[in-house]
Amino acid sequence: MEIKGASAIVTGGASGLGNATVKLLHSQGARVVIADVIDERGEAVAQELGDGAIFVKTDVTDEAAGKQAVEAAVSKHGGLNILINCAGIGGAIKILNKDGTVHDLEKYRRIITVNLIGTFNMLRLSAAAMTKGEPNPGGERGVIVNTTSVAAYEGQIGQAAYASSKGGILALTLPAAREFARQGIRVLAIAPGIFDTDMLAKVPEPVRKTLGESVPFPSRLGQPEEYARLAQHIIENPMLNGESIRIDGALRMAPR
Ligand SMILES: NC(=O)c1ccc[n+]([C@@H]2O[C@H](COP(=O)([O-])OP(=O)(O)OC[C@H]3O[C@@H](n4cnc5c(N)ncnc54)[C@H](O)[C@@H]3O)[C@@H](O)[C@H]2O)c1
Repeated sequence: MEIKGASAIVTGGASGLGNATVKLLHSQGARVVIADVIDERGEAVAQELGDGAIFVKTDVTDEAAGKQAVEAAVSKHGGLNILINCAGIGGAIKILNKDGTVHDLEKYRRIITVNLIGTFNMLRLSAAAMTKGEPNPGGERGVIVNTTSVAAYEGQIGQAAYASSKGGILALTLPAAREFARQGIRVLAIAPGIFDTDMLAKVPEPVRKTLGESVPFPSRLGQPEEYARLAQHIIENPMLNGESIRIDGALRMAPR
C-alpha cells in the first residue's frame, strides 16, 4: 500500500516507537491521527507536524474513545487505511515473591487490558472502518501492524503479565489476517527487542548499557526510527501478511 495520501492511526503515537512512526508516515505524505492518553505530548507532536496530523486523546482500552479516534480519521482524513498499534505498558512483577506475596491480580489484569485488549479494540474498530474504503488496484483496503515483543517468545522472570499480553497479540495476528483476507486488509506484528524509548528511560544508565551490549549485532539499543522503517516496509510490501517480524539484532532473552 502506498503511504502517500493514506490515512493512518498510530496508537501510543505521543512517544517512543509510535512517535517515530507518526513522524515517518507523515513525512511520506500520510495523514495521521495520533491516538494516545497523554494530551500535552500528543498535541505538541500534532502541532509540530502541522497539516495532516491531528491528536485525539484516546485510551485504547475504552470502546467509545477508540470509536472517536477512528471517526476522526474517517471524517477528517477521508477514511482509514493504516493502523499502527503501539500503545502499551511494561511492568516487571514476579509471580511469587520471596516475602510470600503473590502477583497482584489487578496489575496482571491492567497489563493484559492495555496491551492485549487495547490492541484488539483498535484492531476491530479500525478494520470495520477500513472495509468501507475502496480497494487499491491490488485489492488492498488496509494494513494493521500490531506491536508484540521478543518477550512473547522468551519472556523473562518477572515478565509473566507482559509476556502473556504480548503472546496474545502474537496469536491474534494470524486469525485476524485470515479473517480480513476477503476484505483486503493485511495484519502483521512487529516484535521489537530492546529499544531506546521512554519505556526504558526509567532503567539506570549502567543497566541500559548492559542491555545494549547484550544484543549480538549491532550491540546497542534499537532506535525508534528503525522500528518505524520496518512498519513502513510492512505497509508498502503487499506480500507480507499474517506474520510477526522480530527486529532485535539477533537478541534472545535470557531467563533473567
Ligand atoms: N521499547 C522497547 O524496548 C520495546 C520492546 C518490545 C516491545 N515494545 C512495545 O512497543 C510499544 C511502544 O512502546 P515504547 O517503547 O514506544 O514505549 P513508550 O512508553 O515510549 O510509548 C508508549 C505509549 O503508549 C501510550 N499508552 C499507554 N497506555 C495507553 C492507553 N491505555 N491508551 C493509549 N495510549 C497509551 C503512552 O502514553 C505512550 O505514549 C509497546 O507496546 C511496548 O510494549 C517496546
